[in-house]
Amino acid sequence: MLDKIEAFRKEILSSALNTPAQLEAFRLKFLSRNGLISTLFDEFKALPGVDKATLGKPLNELKVLAETMFKQCKEQFESSVSGSQSIRDDLTLPVHASLLGSLHPLTVVEKEIREIFFRMGFSISSGPEIEDDFHNFTALNFPADHPARDMQDTFFVRKGESGLEDLVLRTHTSPVQIRLMENQKPPIRSVMPGRVFRNESVTYKSYFQFNQIEGLVVDHGISMAELIQTLVTFAKMMYGSEIEYRIRSSFFPFTEPSIEMDVRTSSTTNWMEILGAGMVDPNVFEAVGIDSEHYSGYAFGMGIDRIAMLKYGFTDIRTLYENDIRMLEQFPL
Ligand code: PHE
Repeated sequence: MLDKIEAFRKEILSSALNTPAQLEAFRLKFLSRNGLISTLFDEFKALPGVDKATLGKPLNELKVLAETMFKQCKEQFESSVSGSQSIRDDLTLPVHASLLGSLHPLTVVEKEIREIFFRMGFSISSGPEIEDDFHNFTALNFPADHPARDMQDTFFVRKGESGLEDLVLRTHTSPVQIRLMENQKPPIRSVMPGRVFRNESVTYKSYFQFNQIEGLVVDHGISMAELIQTLVTFAKMMYGSEIEYRIRSSFFPFTEPSIEMDVRTSSTTNWMEILGAGMVDPNVFEAVGIDSEHYSGYAFGMGIDRIAMLKYGFTDIRTLYENDIRMLEQFPL
């Protein structure tokens, strides 16, 4: 009998108790009413008195060992069931489909424009959205009484405080040209995308904020012919080589001469204005300390929103800013 006790002891100690099912099998085998230990006790009762004295202690120890192991494992399983483990381990729970974000149509179009100019050797620059009067207007050759400085068009962050320069939400990306020329000697060849703000009433075709991308090239001997060739190359890469274009003369305070470019596809009759441009006005060079006797340059600026609306068929500019998830979901990555 002592041998049997020793054999069971080893078996109990080496039992695998890693799952509730294994624990239950263990209980049935050793601890149940008809289990091995119970049976041993029955045998023990039938023994003559002299053996009882030597066998009672090891037999009891065997029972306590099995009961202790059972109790400990059971407690362990129960505490993990009430914790988060049970949720992780429930293989029948439905899987949550992970939601993937996507790029906003404005981001897609801006990236496309940037890449075209990148391939033509332009770097990318950026500047602040809150500008001082000097960078947004004065250095760009806006006369003091120019209507664009008026409250109607410009959001002022600080206006008319004595001794302090006016601060505005930039009304165009052209101030980034000024910052670039202040910080970098020519040659300069860069495009500058960014958000701009104008105090316009909100309608389907105008909004108080929109996006522009500015271009600036300054070097020796830069010509109008190079400007036009760059713009035509851009238009063909952006809209396809079949696109028709025309160049009209125009006016901007910071370029002289100034032009605008219109495009149309062969299937439409209407011309669409896509950008303003021109040769950098000598007054602008003077404001940033570049010698206009030795350097010349061109600049251009275009609205990104209009291009995105045309490309994706939006008829209301507000669609681009409402962040309606139903619109965004139509542009998966
Ligand atoms: N800044 C001008 C605008 O907002 C666009 C422009 C940029 C025109 C550069 C000429 C040169 O309308």
